[in-house]
Amino acid sequence: MKEEHPIVQNSTELYHPSPETVAQANVKDPEAVRIEAAKDIQAYWAKRAEELDWYKKWDKVLDDSDKPFYKWFTGGKTNIVLNALDRHVKTWRRNKLALIWESEKGEVRTFSYHAMNREVCKFANVLKSMGVVKGDLVTIYMPRIPETVIAMLATAKIGAVHSVVYGGFSVEALHGRIEDSGSKVVITADGGNMNGKKIELKKIVDEALKRSGQPEHVVVIKHLGIDVMMEQGRDYWYHELMTLPMSKNGLKCETEVMDAEDPLFILYTSGTTGKPKAILHTHGGYSVGIHATIKDVFDLKEEDRWWCTADPGWITGHSYIVYGPLIAGATSIMYEGAPMYPYPDRWWSIIEKYGVTIFYSTPTAIRGLMRFGESWANRHDLSSLRLLGSVGEPINPEAWRWFYKIIGKEKCPIMDTWWQTETGMFMMAPMPAQPLKPGSATKPFPGIDADVVNAEGKSVPVGEEGFLILKNPWPAMMRTIYKDPERYVKTYWSTYPGYYFAGDSARKDSDGYFWVIGRVDDVIKVSGYRLGTAEIESAFITHHAVAEAAVIGLPHEIKGMAIHAYLILKSGNEPNELLIEDLRKHISHELGPIAKPEKIEFVSSLPKTRSGKIMRRLLKARAQGLSEGDISTLEE
Ligand code: PRX
Repeated sequence: MKEEHPIVQNSTELYHPSPETVAQANVKDPEAVRIEAAKDIQAYWAKRAEELDWYKKWDKVLDDSDKPFYKWFTGGKTNIVLNALDRHVKTWRRNKLALIWESEKGEVRTFSYHAMNREVCKFANVLKSMGVVKGDLVTIYMPRIPETVIAMLATAKIGAVHSVVYGGFSVEALHGRIEDSGSKVVITADGGNMNGKKIELKKIVDEALKRSGQPEHVVVIKHLGIDVMMEQGRDYWYHELMTLPMSKNGLKCETEVMDAEDPLFILYTSGTTGKPKAILHTHGGYSVGIHATIKDVFDLKEEDRWWCTADPGWITGHSYIVYGPLIAGATSIMYEGAPMYPYPDRWWSIIEKYGVTIFYSTPTAIRGLMRFGESWANRHDLSSLRLLGSVGEPINPEAWRWFYKIIGKEKCPIMDTWWQTETGMFMMAPMPAQPLKPGSATKPFPGIDADVVNAEGKSVPVGEEGFLILKNPWPAMMRTIYKDPERYVKTYWSTYPGYYFAGDSARKDSDGYFWVIGRVDDVIKVSGYRLGTAEIESAFITHHAVAEAAVIGLPHEIKGMAIHAYLILKSGNEPNELLIEDLRKHISHELGPIAKPEKIEFVSSLPKTRSGKIMRRLLKARAQGLSEGDISTLEE
C-alpha cells in the first residue's frame, strides 16, 4: 500500500474539449447527467434500459432483497442477441457492415448485419444438433477471427452460456477452465497467426483434453489450413457442419427468450488463489450497462467505424468488440495479429485503410509503439479519428500525451476507462465533452458512486492514497462466481460490508477526479493482462526441479508490470541459465507466453509468516530497495 506506482503522477494539466466535440457529443453536459442519475439510480437505469428492445419489460428495476446478490430488471424477458442482431436485421442496418476483419497476413473479410445473423443462425442450429441446450456451458478457445464472434453470439442465441478462454493461454490454463466449467462443447481453430508465427490451438486443446474429463464434442475451424489430429466421434470441422442439412434453414433459428437474470457468459479471471474465478454475467443488465457506456463515453454514432484492439478472450473484447458495438448497430474493426507485424505501423495503416473514427487500445501497446518513434504514424493519414480510448492499466502521462499528439493530432479526446472483468462495463471514465487530465480516468459513470477509503472504510482526504470502493450496484455487475457464491461474497463484499471492494488503490484530487494507482492484492497486470501470482506459482511447482516458488510484479517501462519469480530448487538441481530457459518454457507451455517471467532468481529461503504464507510484499520491497515496513509477522 505504501509503495508508489512510478508511472502515475498527480497532474494539474487540463485538456478542454473543442467546441465541435461538445457540439456533437451524445452527452453535452456529463456533470449534469451524473448529478441527475445520483438522485435516483433506478430511474436513471430504467431510462437507459428503455433504449433497448425487450420481449417483455421488467417488473422491477433493482431487486436488492438478497444483498450482495443484486438482481436487475427482474421479470424482464430478453436475449442479448435480440438487441445485437435481431432488431437490426429488421431495419436498413441489415445491409450495414457489422464487422470488418483483417488477418495478420492481410486477408479481409466483411460481414453485414444480415450476413452475421445468417452465420450465427446456422451455427446456432449446429450447436443445437449437438445437443447443446439452454444453460449448457460452451468453451470457446480461438484466435482473433470472425468465427469467435459468431460462436459467442450463436451460443447466447440458444440460451447456452459461453466461456471464452483467451487464445494466448496454454495447456494447463485451458484444462483448468474447461474442467471447472464442465463444458459440453469446445470450439476452437486449427490455429491462429500472431507476430508471424503460427499458434497451433487445436494441439493445445488435444493436450488439455487429455488432462480433463472429455467434453462431448470439439468443433474446429480451419483457419491456417495446417494438419491437425481429429478424434473420430468427438472432433468435427466447422465448415463441414455448417453445410449439413440441419443448418440449411440457417435463417430460421429462433432466439431463445431468456429471463433478464439468466446467465449469458462466464469469464475466468485471476484472483488471489491459484484457482481462477469464473465471473458470471447475465443477459439483461449487462446489455443495458454496456450499451449506455459505449454510447456516452465513446459517443458512438451510426456513421462511426469503431476499433477496439483487445482480444475477445478478455472482458474488453466481450463488452466492447462483440456485444457493445453490435447492440449499438455500429461497424466494428477486428484485426487478427500483432501491432508491430510486419512493421510498427500496422495499426496506423488499418486506421487509414478503413477510416477508423474511434480507436480504443491499451497503455502497453501505446508505450510499445512510442518506442519506434512518430515517423511510423506520420506516414499515414489518421484524420478520420475523432476519439481515442485507453484501458487495462494506468496510462502514464507521457504515453497519454504521445497518444494525444501523434495519433490524435491534438483533436481527439482520450477516454481513459477504468473497469474490470467483474464490473462488465466502464465504472469510471470521462465523456468527450469534459476536461481531461492525462493519467486520470476522471469520474464515475452516471449512477456509479466511487470512493477512496482507508483500512477502516473511512473516506481518505483529497490527494491521499486509499482503497477504491463502489457504493452502488450497477446493471452490468457480475452476479456471482460460478459455482462459488461464498467466494463472491468474501472477495468483493466482505472487506467493507455493503460496498464493492475493487482490489485497486487510488487517489481523488480536489476536482473530484480519480487516479487509479494499481492492484493491492496478488493480481499482476502484465501488459494489461491479468495474472494471479498463485496461479503462476502453482505452474512453477509442477516443474520437476522446483520445490517452492514465489512470484511478484515489479514496475516495467513498457509492460507496466513484469513478473519476477523466486524459486527454491529441489536438491540435486543446478541453478544455471539452461534451467532458467527450461523454466520459462515450462510456464509458457502450462499457462501461455503472457505468463513468462521477466526474471527468475534462485534462492535458499522465502520470507514467510509464521502461518506459512509467503510475504510477497517483503520480496517486493527488497527487490526495489524500499523500506521493509512491518515485519513482526516474519517467521525467521
Ligand atoms: O487494476 C485495474 C486495471 O485492470 C484491473 C481489471 O483487470 P481486468 O479484469 O483484466 O479488466 C481489464 C479491462 C477492463 C483493474 O482492477 N485497470 C483497468 N482499467 C484501468 C486500470 N487501471 C488504471 N486505469 C484504467 N483505465
